[in-house]
Amino acid sequence: MHRRILAPGALAAASLLLAIPASAASYSPGAPGIGDPYYPYYGNGGYDVSHYDLRLQYQPATDELAGTATILARTTQDLSSFDLDFLLDVSEVRVNGVKADFATSGQHELVITPKSPLAQGTQVTVVVRYSGVPSTKSAYGFDTWHRTPDGAVAADEPESAWWWYPSNDHPLDKATYDVSVAVPDGTQVISNGLLQSTSSKLGWTRYNWRQNKPQATYLTTLAVGKFDITTSTSEGGVPVVNAYSKDLGDNDGAARASVERTGELVDWLSGYFGPYPFSSAGGYVPNTTTGYALETQTRVYYSPKQFANGANTSVVVHELAHQWYGDDVSLKGWKDIWINEGFARYAQWLWSEHEGEGTAQELADYVYASHPADDAFWTVKPGDPGPDDQFDIAVYDRGALAIQALRNEVGDDAFFAILKGWPKEHAYGNASVADFEEYAEKVSGKSLSALFDAYLFEPTKPVAPAVKAVGAVAAVAQPKSWKQIEATNDVH
Ligand code: ARG
Ligand code: ZN
Repeated sequence: MHRRILAPGALAAASLLLAIPASAASYSPGAPGIGDPYYPYYGNGGYDVSHYDLRLQYQPATDELAGTATILARTTQDLSSFDLDFLLDVSEVRVNGVKADFATSGQHELVITPKSPLAQGTQVTVVVRYSGVPSTKSAYGFDTWHRTPDGAVAADEPESAWWWYPSNDHPLDKATYDVSVAVPDGTQVISNGLLQSTSSKLGWTRYNWRQNKPQATYLTTLAVGKFDITTSTSEGGVPVVNAYSKDLGDNDGAARASVERTGELVDWLSGYFGPYPFSSAGGYVPNTTTGYALETQTRVYYSPKQFANGANTSVVVHELAHQWYGDDVSLKGWKDIWINEGFARYAQWLWSEHEGEGTAQELADYVYASHPADDAFWTVKPGDPGPDDQFDIAVYDRGALAIQALRNEVGDDAFFAILKGWPKEHAYGNASVADFEEYAEKVSGKSLSALFDAYLFEPTKPVAPAVKAVGAVAAVAQPKSWKQIEATNDVH
């Protein structure tokens, strides 16, 4: 061992080093993405969030949003720094009470460097103070914060959190939420879960919403505007909270005639999927010009356009089915989107059958027959569609066709056992298409890999006779409900 006399500068450097834990070499930055191949920078590495507390103020007139996010997390590695996904302007960050350095990086990364590095497996409290005008921000070409004539809405998939709260923005990291937002008196705030309380002071009304079950970041929603809020309880005991913009014009009646049936439809779906997994249900219809609907947890987002042709219970069934398939059991990676959209579409088919507007088999036959083998429809693989085709119609319709094929293969007893067993198997968790195949094989006792490959993973039309009654396909009339399903095809 060499001994040498240290120069004063070197000594200072050496004593600084002593402040860092002995294993400092193992401390490294958390990854800027959680590891999803479709979206390399979505989510982050090195920690797991358990709770978000968002305490905000929003002024509709100017689109100014300001406040504080308090994030409770646990480290999953020794961290020298870590990222949050966020677009607004940050003024201060504290980690475990101590001011931390922060910087922006890439399109939507907030890089936080705590004063002391964080050891693996420890609890961390992160406080982020921020403000900004969300409608002026964009990343990767997205600007999904939607202003309305009297407020704004955050509801999109997968990108919606970055415009209003800092997060580990990926379904793999679910957490509970308190969303507290103050708005000018006379304006309402809608979010997930149950409204705990409201309070007023100095011309502002604060709404305190709570989601007490794990929730993916993209399923966390915020709407500000002038709403009429209705409350009820379903026959099965689920509290229902719905909200309608006071500015829905001609769509108001049809919106209410659809969304007010939420309690009835939640109870009906429970018959197929098992007990409703959350402490409230409902939806809101803001005065947006967007066209889609979204399964925001417990409080579904509906565009008024969904109701332009009259009552649309089919879209309500679709979004409520997601509460089990997508929200309770969330995907592991965005390539698993079939578990969300295929099953939500299949629930619409079950509803069509229940309403006497065409059976699931007839609808499956119709999908099969209406796309010839050379149709680009069959080039989309629902089991791994790629980010550009994540919400392609094939993920929905070919995806539901695959589910009907599964039903025909395993028989109704096993099929409905799978449908109901899956949410229980992965309650409040995450699962992949591969996990689903494994589960379906376990319950049915059949090898299903050929069927899954043909229906979900080949870029070609599956060969008959895996679709029952395929010989009669040419004669299948368009089921009555088809127009309704088609009208909402590209929007939910
Ligand atoms: N998961 C939504 C639904 O099927 C789809 C949302 C698609 N996103 C969009 N911006 N159009 O209900
Ligand atoms: Zn959907």
